[in-house]
Amino acid sequence: MLLLESLCENPSDFVMHFTRMAAHTAMKIAYGHKDVTDNQDLLSKAIRSMEIFTETVIPGAWLVDSLPILDHLPSWFPFAAFKRYQEMAKPIVVESVTKPFEIVKKHLAQGTADGSFTSYLLQSEKLDPETEDCIKWAANGIFFGQFETTTAALSWFTHAMVKHPDVQKKAQEEIDRVVGNERLPKVEDRDSLPYLNAVLREVMRWQPIVCLSTRAVSEESDEYHGYFVPAYTEIVVNIWAVLHDPTVYPDPERFIPERHLEKDVPDPLDVAFGIGRRGCPGRQVAQAQPFVTMACMLATLDLKPVKDEHGNELIPETKGGDLLINFPVPFKSAFTARSEMALELIHQSAEHARSLPDKLERWSD
Ligand code: HEM
Repeated sequence: MLLLESLCENPSDFVMHFTRMAAHTAMKIAYGHKDVTDNQDLLSKAIRSMEIFTETVIPGAWLVDSLPILDHLPSWFPFAAFKRYQEMAKPIVVESVTKPFEIVKKHLAQGTADGSFTSYLLQSEKLDPETEDCIKWAANGIFFGQFETTTAALSWFTHAMVKHPDVQKKAQEEIDRVVGNERLPKVEDRDSLPYLNAVLREVMRWQPIVCLSTRAVSEESDEYHGYFVPAYTEIVVNIWAVLHDPTVYPDPERFIPERHLEKDVPDPLDVAFGIGRRGCPGRQVAQAQPFVTMACMLATLDLKPVKDEHGNELIPETKGGDLLINFPVPFKSAFTARSEMALELIHQSAEHARSLPDKLERWSD
């Protein structure tokens, strides 16, 4: 794992290290090939494309979504800022969706493509232009769905650990007891680490990464708990409100992982990834990657507030941004190896990561 080494060597860029790890994993799952995953230009275009996406899909952000007639305005018209934005954004988004897809197609034709979502579907589906288009946009959905959400979850986790050293210590004690200090934790350890699971649940509840679900429309009239919902009503799930309901999670603004160790407390992970048929299709990866990353960070590193020039600890303010993906406002954290043994593990895991074949050997059905 290169992340741990990067956190030690350059702690001030920790959000960028999370982004790089998540984007790399997303690119690998979606497209697989080294030409795509190591291409910095493609990666930065994809990241810019994601920023555009988050700026545009916030419900209510654009009047044209509610008044489609505005779409007929010329781009110079005073209320048509959205058109000028669209002209700037479209080529970036189209390139970031099309280019990695075309590279996978080229490698398939040459017989050199690695296992990935795209190469698997291009080989197994009966292809016509519409199916190809679906595969292309779905692959991009994996990238969009994964990398910012994972980065935000790890950023909030870091924030929570810096502010709650007691929780950090308890989770570290559990890892030391269950995993020991001669290897890094693995996904397979998840069931044996109930306290760390509770920390993950509390991070996702306390600061849901996606606060409002994407919009859905009722196909027919319905009634829900006494409320009449006419057909074709736009419905947005307020994930934040559900996970901050004080009747279910008392004192909801406080970070208390212990609440998830009690019986009959609803699992926030059932809501944090959306509900119903359009719920997050990546939720397995979305829980496994942050979990194992959190576990490896706590196994090897102490996360602490940085100090000012007078030696006072700078405790970060808990405040989220207002974009689609809920990120903490920028804050600082110190990352120091917990022991000589931990430092050794960090170096060993980085060496191991560097020596891995750059391939997904198989794509499981
Ligand atoms: C902490 C991590 C994540 C969180 C909190 C999260 C949450 C969500 C939520 C709330 C939605 C909208 C569901 C709805 O509207 O009801 C969503 C959609 C989506 N997510 Fe995730 N997600 C995460 C990670 C991932 C990962 C790792 C992937 C892919 C590997 C992914 C792929 C997607 C896709 C493709 C959609 C769109 C689904 C559709 O339009 O039907 N997500 N996610």
